[in-house]
Amino acid sequence: MYRLIGNQYRKPSGLLGRIIAKKMTRGNIPVYDKIIPGLGIKQNDRILEIGYGLGVGIDKIGSGYDCFVSGIDFSDLMYKLASKKNKKHIKNGKAELYHGDFLTAEMIPDQYDIIFCTNVIYFWINLDEPFSKIKTLLKDGGLFCIFMASGDYLKKKKFTKDGIFCKYSIGQVVDALKFAGFRDINYEFRKAYIIKCRK
Ligand SMILES: C[S@@+](CC[C@H](N)C(=O)[O-])C[C@H]1O[C@@H](n2cnc3c(N)ncnc32)[C@H](O)[C@@H]1O
Repeated sequence: MYRLIGNQYRKPSGLLGRIIAKKMTRGNIPVYDKIIPGLGIKQNDRILEIGYGLGVGIDKIGSGYDCFVSGIDFSDLMYKLASKKNKKHIKNGKAELYHGDFLTAEMIPDQYDIIFCTNVIYFWINLDEPFSKIKTLLKDGGLFCIFMASGDYLKKKKFTKDGIFCKYSIGQVVDALKFAGFRDINYEFRKAYIIKCRK
């Protein structure tokens, strides 16, 4: 049962995925409200969100900033719902949504000013490859921002049992960022971590 629920957090699908994604997004709207203003978005920036879920972050950026925002998510359900939510931004040429696995998708290097992800790195069993890919996709000086619950918090949650979630400590994430060659790594903790660093 926990594995079933954990899998829906990793890749929402069907009716259960829809219910869990809506519940998760309600809880995460304040997360987007906090992290997006802190990204320092400038006019004409190119931004990528990995694992956009229902597309709340894409919509906030598309509505509030004069930039171009892309997203990639491998859930068919999230792609459909986020595309519907962001129809206006896509039509206006302010946003594009991809349906695919970030870990295997072929992408053009040195194209983004900012890359961010919220509640996604738990599903990466190894951080070295994704972080190294993110660094390749960023322009020089570009910002990478991660939002994540702490491993200790996740360990207390029933739905994280059964091996779907990787419960990273902040130390493990910072070490992996250093290993990938990011600089200016800093983080703040208020119930969860917001980690920022630069290429
Ligand atoms: C826990 S949800 C978080 C959704 C949203 N970012 C939020 O915080 O509300 C994780 C999302 O990341 C997506 N995801 C996980 N691993 C992915 C991968 N390797 N490539 C693309 N999308 C991925 C899932 O489909 C899901 O929509």
